[in-house]
Order: sequence, then structure tokens, then C-alpha cells
Amino acid sequence: MPIKMLTLEDLDLDGERVFLRVDVNTPVHPETGKLMEHTRLEEAAMTIRDLPKSKVVVASHQGRVGRSDYTSLEAHSKALEEIIGKKVAFVPDVFGPEALSEIDSLPDGGVLVLDNLRFTAEENQEYKPADAEKTFLVRRIKDHVDACVLDAFSTAHRSSPSIVGFAGLVPTCAGRTVGRELRMLDRIFSVEKGPYVTVLGGAKVNDRLEAIDALIANNRADKVLLCGVVGLVFLKAAGKLKGEIGIEGEQKYVLKARQLMDDDPERFALPVDVAMRANGERKEVEPGMLTAQAQVLDIGTKTIERYGRFIKGAGTVFMSGPPGAFEWEEFSVGTQGLLVAMASSLGTTIISGGHLSTALRKYGIHDQIDHISTAGGALVQYLAGKRLPLIDALERAADKWGRKPS
Ligand code: 3PG
Repeated sequence: MPIKMLTLEDLDLDGERVFLRVDVNTPVHPETGKLMEHTRLEEAAMTIRDLPKSKVVVASHQGRVGRSDYTSLEAHSKALEEIIGKKVAFVPDVFGPEALSEIDSLPDGGVLVLDNLRFTAEENQEYKPADAEKTFLVRRIKDHVDACVLDAFSTAHRSSPSIVGFAGLVPTCAGRTVGRELRMLDRIFSVEKGPYVTVLGGAKVNDRLEAIDALIANNRADKVLLCGVVGLVFLKAAGKLKGEIGIEGEQKYVLKARQLMDDDPERFALPVDVAMRANGERKEVEPGMLTAQAQVLDIGTKTIERYGRFIKGAGTVFMSGPPGAFEWEEFSVGTQGLLVAMASSLGTTIISGGHLSTALRKYGIHDQIDHISTAGGALVQYLAGKRLPLIDALERAADKWGRKPS
């Protein structure tokens, strides 16, 4: 069903101070600390370009507290400046006096990037909209802006203050990324068919386990191919991996994986071989052969072939999270192999998340995929038919701020 929401065309934003909530959360290289790609920044730039006469206050989170990608947005603002080809100011503050004064002095056509929203305690919490309106973040910023544009589709599943707190207080509409994603997904829903194959990798184990539950409940995961850290959790639950994986909450995740496999063992496929580093080189072994100290960095060749067959036989295939540490050439084999299988599948193909869209571009096969979404967890929840807080906020805003029929 089409979503009721306002777009940039519905609000007169010339000369207005616009709080633009984007998601430029970007993979950061674990060794150099540099931004590894600009996909989400390029998406954000589309909306900024379409606000040429507004005073645009760009806001986003980056990483999670305690992780190596939890960084300032200064590098993002410089990258954005290059992408849009005009001056982009940056303030190392979110809603303190410095940030508010920079917002107030923005000229028409000016663009200011606030610092990482998650540097503030409130943005790391989830709220009901009425409570989000009472947060310091929203209360301090709202008097300095005239409108809000929600364009963080990939954060649509988080009810943080910047996502759900402004829609009831200032006129709020959707940006270009939200519009593009919803249009494409609508189109996919009209042609999709089974069998549904889901490939889950990456390091966000909690999100992936929630995704499995949601996709199974919505009949969108006939076969689940596991890789990445979540694959290791399932291997451990199946008794095929010795030692600790070394992630927070490991015990709980392993129990959950055990329960999922007990309920329906045929639904899940686990890696039959994995790659690790030995004497500075890639070495493939069966999971049972790994020593407790070995760090798994990719899936092995046999697993790539096996998963490739499932992918090619799918009616609809959805992939979220890379199978290995593809930023290192020798451990990009699994990511490349599965993406190439996706590109040659005759089914409908959907790729989710910044890491995989970067990899697709690197391998030059991005135009062979039906939909590349910048979203990870949010997309999973949307595909699973869940209501997303950002979309709810847009619907509430359409009711409150939409033009009444004359
Ligand atoms: C994402 O990359 O999925 C979004 O930016 C949300 O990030 P989060 O999972 O840390 O909330």
C-alpha cells in the first residue's frame, strides 16, 4: 500500500532552516581510520542539491559507542563538500551553543554538518515520539529550525530522537533517498516470487538474528545461507566450532541459533569451509579443524560454490552483510563469489547495506542487481512487513502538516 508522506515538493523550503536527518554512517577502515566509501554521502547529496535555497543542517550518526567506526563527522563533511561541489561547514558539536550559533548564522544556500549525533546520550536510546519531543536534543534544536526532512532510510528502524522527535513539532517531509527506496521496494513487491533465499553475513549478530525471525515469520526466508560472524555463531551452535568467537552476548546468540536450527534444520545452510590467515596468507580449512586462536576472515571455496547454487536457483534472493573481511584482497573471495552469483541469478535480487554496495561497485557488477539499498537492518524489517518508526513519523507529519484539500 502506498505510504502517505509529504515530499520536498509539498513544503516551501526556500530560505528556511531545514534539519536534514540523513544516514551517512559509513564503513571506516579498521587500520587507516579512513572512510571506505561514499555511497550514503552521495545519496545524502541528492537531497541537499534539491534544497539549493535553504539553510541545510545535516545530521547523522556514525558507528556505535565503543566501536572503531564511532568517529566524528568531520571527514564526512569534507567528502560531502567534494561531492556537491560547494562549501560545507562542519561544527564539532550537536546541540550545544556552538552548534546553535552556527545554525543561526547559516546563509540561504548554506550547508552545515553537525557532529555525530550519537556523541549525545539521547540519540543512543529509542523513544516513543511524545518522549522524543522532550529530549534535550529535539528541544534545543527545534527552535533553530523551520522544517525537518527525514532521509535516513537506513536508520528507519531506530526510534531515536532525531528520527521520531521532530515530525510533530515542525513541518516534516521525506527526502530523495527515502522516496527512491520506497518506490523501488514497491516495484519489487509487485514482481517477487519464491523460493526466497536469504544470505546473511557481517558482524551485527543481534540484527541478523532478529532478521531471521522476522523474515521467517513473513515467509520470506525458505533457505538462509549463513556466513560472516553470524555464520560462526551458527557453526558454534551446531557444535562445529571450538573455542570462543569473542563477541559480546555470545552465549545468548549461540542459544538462539541452536533453537532456530532445532525448529527447522533444513532451512539453514552453514559454511562447510572457512578461510583464515596462516603465515601471512589465506588458508582454507573445515570449521572443525580451526584452533581456538584462529580468526576466521572469509568463507571457503566449497561454501562459495554451494551457496552459489542456492542463489542461482532462487526466485527472490536477498543478501545483507559481507561474508568476509573483503577490505583485505585475500579475504574478498567469498564476498566477490556470492555477489557474482547474485548478479547472474535469474531471480529478483536485492542487496542491502553500505559494505556490499561498495563491493558491488568494486567488482563492476552493480548494474546487474535489481535493487541496491543503502539500508541494512531497516530494509530487513521493511521486507519482513514491520512498521518502521521513520515511516510512521512521515505518516504522522503528512496528517499534521499536509495541505488540506480546499
Ligand atoms: C545501518 O548502517 O544499518 C544504520 O546506519 C543503523 O546503524 P545501527 O545499526 O548502528 O543503528
